[in-house]
Amino acid sequence: MDLNLKGKVAIVTGAGGGGIGTSVSYELASEGAIVVANDIDRPWADRVAKQLNSQGSKAIATYADVTSFNECQAMVSKALAEFSRVDILVTIPAYMGYGSFAHTSMDDHHRVVDVTFWGTLNAIKAVLKPMLAQRSGSIVCMGSDSARMAPPGESMYAASKAAIMTFATCLAKEVGSSGVRINVVNAALVSTPGQEGMAGGFAHNYPLGRFPEPKEVAEAIAFLASDRAAMITGQSLSVNSGRL
Ligand SMILES: NC(=O)c1ccc[n+]([C@@H]2O[C@H](COP(=O)([O-])OP(=O)(O)OC[C@H]3O[C@@H](n4cnc5c(N)ncnc54)[C@H](O)[C@@H]3O)[C@@H](O)[C@H]2O)c1
Repeated sequence: MDLNLKGKVAIVTGAGGGGIGTSVSYELASEGAIVVANDIDRPWADRVAKQLNSQGSKAIATYADVTSFNECQAMVSKALAEFSRVDILVTIPAYMGYGSFAHTSMDDHHRVVDVTFWGTLNAIKAVLKPMLAQRSGSIVCMGSDSARMAPPGESMYAASKAAIMTFATCLAKEVGSSGVRINVVNAALVSTPGQEGMAGGFAHNYPLGRFPEPKEVAEAIAFLASDRAAMITGQSLSVNSGRL
């Protein structure tokens, strides 16, 4: 299916790392989008933008720490200065901070919420006014099946991801009549660089027999970001090999 993203301007926060965000950047670019590859890790953001430009796509790198609303605003301002509009926002960064709630530090709890929840909301808040002004836009947030599975050791992370789903449903109702959509894509385990140790271990628990590849998550994100999903908003979709 042609997603018809030619010339659309897409910001991807957390575009580096070689996982889902990197795959999303390549996927959107392969469908014709102009990509603003944002990552707190500058070499990674540069690498993704350089690679996309070298293969004939159009991309720039930005370096906002998504826990800062000011930095998110600067990221959006840079995109607007370069391309005059922002059509798509995909929010990726999260911090899991695995450990029991009782024995994990308050600093760690705050870090999980700052990166996972506020990092998502800061980017959305920064992009929303331009999208509302142009009366179009599509936002896709990376969630997690942990929000529904509620595994022990992930209480802050799972709660932050659940909050993103509820937030997205509310926001979809606020901005739908202004032409802006927002959806969430969840996953359980994905074969990303950070999950290498898990590879193969639990695959038999997954009805389709393997973990999704980052590209398979990215394809769902690209679809929801596109006008092919024009009648889908406020929804959460799991790309999880049937795990939940
Ligand atoms: N990998 C999995 O198995 C899996 C499963 C379910 C959900 N997810 C979700 O998918 C998303 C991506 O996971 P991943 O494992 O592919 O990548 P990741 O968690 O390794 O991070 C992606 C990128 O985000 C960047 N980043 C981190 N903090 C940032 C900040 N404050 N500001 C800007 N950039 C920042 C990192 O530098 C990295 O390049 C996360 O939201 C995660 O919760 C992943």
